Amino acid sequence: MSVSGVLRKVSKLLPSLLQVVFIIVVLHLVSKGLITKARRSLRQALASHYDAHVDSLVPHHVFRRRQLMRPNLANYQKWNQKLKIPKPRFTQGKKRRHERTQGTSTKRPLLEFQDWHGIMEKRMLELRSACARLGLGLWKLDSSTRPSSPEYQSIYVPTSPSYQSLFVSRDRNLTFCPVSNSGSNWISKRLLELTEEFTRDELEERLPSPPSVLARHLYPFLPSWELYPKFLNQSTNIIIVRHPFDRILHYYRRSLENPKKNPSEYLKFGRKIVNKYRKIPVHKKQPTFGEFVQFLLDLNLGNTEEQWRSIMRKCTPCHIPYNIIGHYETLWQDAVHAWKTANISVEVPAFTETEVTPEIRKLYFSRVKKDHLLKLHEKYIFDFQLFGYNISEHLSYAHNLEESVITSTIATTELPNYEMTSDDNI
Ligand SMILES: *[C@@H]1O[C@H](CO)[C@@H](O)[C@H](O)[C@H]1NC(C)=O
Ligand SMILES: *[C@@H]1O[C@H](CO)[C@@H](O)[C@H](O)[C@H]1NC(C)=O
Ligand SMILES: *[C@@H]1O[C@H](CO)[C@@H](O)[C@H](O)[C@H]1NC(C)=O
Ligand SMILES: *[C@@H]1O[C@H](CO)[C@@H](O)[C@H](O)[C@H]1NC(C)=O
Repeated sequence: MSVSGVLRKVSKLLPSLLQVVFIIVVLHLVSKGLITKARRSLRQALASHYDAHVDSLVPHHVFRRRQLMRPNLANYQKWNQKLKIPKPRFTQGKKRRHERTQGTSTKRPLLEFQDWHGIMEKRMLELRSACARLGLGLWKLDSSTRPSSPEYQSIYVPTSPSYQSLFVSRDRNLTFCPVSNSGSNWISKRLLELTEEFTRDELEERLPSPPSVLARHLYPFLPSWELYPKFLNQSTNIIIVRHPFDRILHYYRRSLENPKKNPSEYLKFGRKIVNKYRKIPVHKKQPTFGEFVQFLLDLNLGNTEEQWRSIMRKCTPCHIPYNIIGHYETLWQDAVHAWKTANISVEVPAFTETEVTPEIRKLYFSRVKKDHLLKLHEKYIFDFQLFGYNISEHLSYAHNLEESVITSTIATTELPNYEMTSDDNI
């Protein structure tokens, strides 16, 4: 057949070919629409069923992805004079992040330095008097007795200081106890910056190891344990704490909720949790938050993984004279205050906070049974008592429903997929 013959044949066939393509496209679009619609109405049905029991499903728009705790520049001027800290310079990367989060600057007012000093004093007083009441550590009174009620019996109570947890800088008379999921990697980056082995830009890039691991190497132990009491007596000793339930929620969202994003944690813990605590078969790989809470309830928190170890166990706050008690909730201000106290003139950059908002708390804690939450509170009781946290808000979201009612709906309700800041910041 000649070339022109082929061309003629093709041009004859062309209209019918186009028709076939057109029909295929139309069929595809229609079926896709139908599937989406069906999926949506199924989800709505599940949601309304669920709402009937627990008033909890939060619309997607309330999930704020990233909240930037940005120092208010007007206040910065005042701080500058008081703290002698140069104006912050942000790198390109930082600037872009600022632009993206326009309009979500900090809601919390910054306080004057004197006020902040007062806040620190108050936190220290609270901690030390709680230790005295409990008859623990450095502030134990002769008259105080160790808690003897049954619920305390099963809780690990440290009897000696855990010096091995501390990062120590002899040059700067500074120590830091890192608590996981409470800003320890962010503070570690600040410490790495002080060593001048890393520039700020390098710290914002991917590091060879997590910042807290690097800081552990660069802020080693003192040559002997006997040297610690005297050293700690004249150094700035920093601990950053966080609401215990927000800590575990943070861990869950970062490490267990999405097995694809964190396959190693899934293999290490997620799979086991599902095998042990899943009551009804659900086509879903990852543990639910409720299952994770049950898993924690069965653990001995005295001797367990770093990620959910209690602050009491990790940093022994009754046995080490911390004089900067930072809260994750006010991390930037606390870090500025700590640097001032330690006479460090390196400026503290903005802190990108992954805030657990009331909406997020509500979404997750409404999937936990009230009595489970009360038991978990008992397990972390010292972390609550020593740092002035309470469970009112979290408990108000928890439910009282029977397992059978709740699990089937909860387990099949999709959670919105949102991003979290990189692990490195927490
Ligand atoms: C650390 O504290 C000791 C004892 O008070 C003091 O001699 C030393 O100068 C301090 N070092 C710095 C860098 O402040
Ligand atoms: C800590 O310092 C105070 C004075 O500032 C001193 O009286 C006390 O004995 C010191 N304690 C230790 C353990 O060095
Ligand atoms: C703080 O550091 C400056 C130098 O950076 C030094 O002159 C000053 O004496 C230090 N103050 C204290 C209380 O260590
Ligand atoms: C619990 O903590 C919140 C937030 O810190 C506080 O507003 C509230 O008054 C506290 N409730 C109790 C009963 O202490």
